[in-house]
Amino acid sequence: MSHRMSVQATLSALQTRILVDGGDPLETLRIRDLMGFVDGQTTNPSLIANNPEIRNRPASGQGLTAREIRDAYKQIVQLISPLVGVAGVSIEVFADLDTTAERMLEQARDMYGWIPNAHIKFPCTVEGIKAAHLAVSEQMKVNLTLCFSQEQAAAVYAATLGTAVPVYISPFVGRLDDIGCNGVDLLVNIQRMFLAGDGHVQVLAASIRTVEHLLYCLSAQVDLVTVPAKILEQWAGKGFPLPGPDFSFPRSGSTIPYQEIDLGRPFASFDVSHELTTKGMQRFVADYNATISSAA
Ligand code: E4P
Repeated sequence: MSHRMSVQATLSALQTRILVDGGDPLETLRIRDLMGFVDGQTTNPSLIANNPEIRNRPASGQGLTAREIRDAYKQIVQLISPLVGVAGVSIEVFADLDTTAERMLEQARDMYGWIPNAHIKFPCTVEGIKAAHLAVSEQMKVNLTLCFSQEQAAAVYAATLGTAVPVYISPFVGRLDDIGCNGVDLLVNIQRMFLAGDGHVQVLAASIRTVEHLLYCLSAQVDLVTVPAKILEQWAGKGFPLPGPDFSFPRSGSTIPYQEIDLGRPFASFDVSHELTTKGMQRFVADYNATISSAA
């Protein structure tokens, strides 16, 4: 077996599934050539707004209409869909702080039909978690995004209990680092809390900013990790090192303490508010609006 094939075999046999975090099919193709596989893809409104074709339209003075953005998003995920493996393609609903669960669910039903391997991303808000609760009852695969607290993860667990379809929860490591926390702590806190559960929610580490973040996720054996192409290329440039038993993560920021939380509570009883979830939604809305025509 060639060195390249043996590296690919080692990577694809890892416990953690590796996804590309982006909005450009050409990038996904490039990473698939580099690693030999891509397990899945995550997209979000900012990443789609950054797709080269979408980005260039407003620069030429023509913003897109809401319908054109929807169609462009659909076309992008349809190109990515056949390039990825078991973890599918996460497609995010467009939601601002006033968007109701019902409105998110309407979008989800449309998006879920775009490709055969869709996961619908809802924000970890009261309305987003309610939408996910309704979506799994319609057998949709879901991904709860903008997760910054154990309590949000517990609410997602409770809201999707009993479902036979995969449920992902996406804790955002890098954005917790940004506010002076040691973001990876949230991953292990959620993993630890879920030990008391039935395993129906998988942890998908997101907002990965460094190769060390990625290696930490592999060493902690999180279920899935979504990584920007740039970081995967840096990892490839170092020869795809894997964390050995002596791996030590360069901790920074304050420790995020573990909380004892009863997963058996009704989902609506959890406090799912978090300032970074609010800010994250505002940022997605701003990026989405930057691509849209003022006449739309
Ligand atoms: C993926 O699901 C997330 O939207 C993404 O990882 C966020 O990354 P960022 O915090 O670097 O924007």
